[in-house]
Amino acid sequence: MNKNKKWSFTLAAAGVLLAGSSVFAEPSFQPGAPWPATDGVHIDAHGGAILYENNTYYWFGELQTGGRRRLPAVSVYTSTDLYHWTNGGAVLTRSTDTNSDFRAGCTVERPKVLHNPKTGKYVMWFHLELAGRGYNAARVAVAVSDTVAGPYQYVSSFRPNGNMSRDMNLYLDDDGQAYEIYSARDNYDLRICRLSDDFLSATTNDVLIAGDHREGPAPFKYHGRYYLITSACTGFAPNAANYYTADNLMGPWTAHPNPCVGPKAATTFDGQSTAVLPLPGRPGAFIFMADRWMPRDLKNSGHIWLPIQIKDGQLTITWQDEWNLGWFDKNPQ
Ligand code: GAL
Repeated sequence: MNKNKKWSFTLAAAGVLLAGSSVFAEPSFQPGAPWPATDGVHIDAHGGAILYENNTYYWFGELQTGGRRRLPAVSVYTSTDLYHWTNGGAVLTRSTDTNSDFRAGCTVERPKVLHNPKTGKYVMWFHLELAGRGYNAARVAVAVSDTVAGPYQYVSSFRPNGNMSRDMNLYLDDDGQAYEIYSARDNYDLRICRLSDDFLSATTNDVLIAGDHREGPAPFKYHGRYYLITSACTGFAPNAANYYTADNLMGPWTAHPNPCVGPKAATTFDGQSTAVLPLPGRPGAFIFMADRWMPRDLKNSGHIWLPIQIKDGQLTITWQDEWNLGWFDKNPQ
């Protein structure tokens, strides 16, 4: 045992939790703490989500290093255990063509990727705002790649069925149908729209979930029931989460109060929902993923990951300073 190991072991045994240190013998999550990838730099994948393929987790997110509206745009990090992440670099880069809707200066937020088994393509959807137009364009955009880790090519951007589309997520159902869940009508409406079979466009199968002024949609499914965690709309400032449930993706959806419990539960632990990760091969094990935004230093915004507890169809997300996947063994749903 080298000197450093002995020291960290002594701290761990004493139950001392310092930023970046751990009371766990095994790897752990420390929600909100700096989370370096194997390159030693905090993971810069924000407003993102994780795709699981070939025993590997691919974490796609907003790449903020170098500036919010500059090149590139979207990052990927890979992991096989969810604790240790390798920076896979930029997978989508803004265009240098000054006529492109996707040119430098545009805003790219909340990228999400699905694999389409029919076309073999990996399809990314993200929120796009046009250069110099603030948040007025309110479009969703599509990019594709033949390989999961990119590079992705920008295809198009549009308003699904004419609706504004800002914060968004994708949901792939068990039957292979995919959906966009998005904030419309200046974020007052949360809508769900089925994608075309190739996942490249929106169909007209598009309905209102709720007109409650919500965003940051994070959907998942458990025991045949759909859950959708959302935030209120206060920009980068945190607010209280809520969630919706439905037996059918096209509704009706029922609203439920804030599932968060513990310090700062009223502000979602100073975070904003971005996605829910179902653990492959572990039915009932779901990780809530949120961003703790630092508007003046977006690349260093924190990542808050917490386990979700589901009892009688009710969600609870309880704050923990530190936890690991063993939590799911001790707390079976
Ligand atoms: C939030 C939104 C973020 C980002 C931010 C900018 O409401 O969820 O994705 O757009 O506003 O202020």
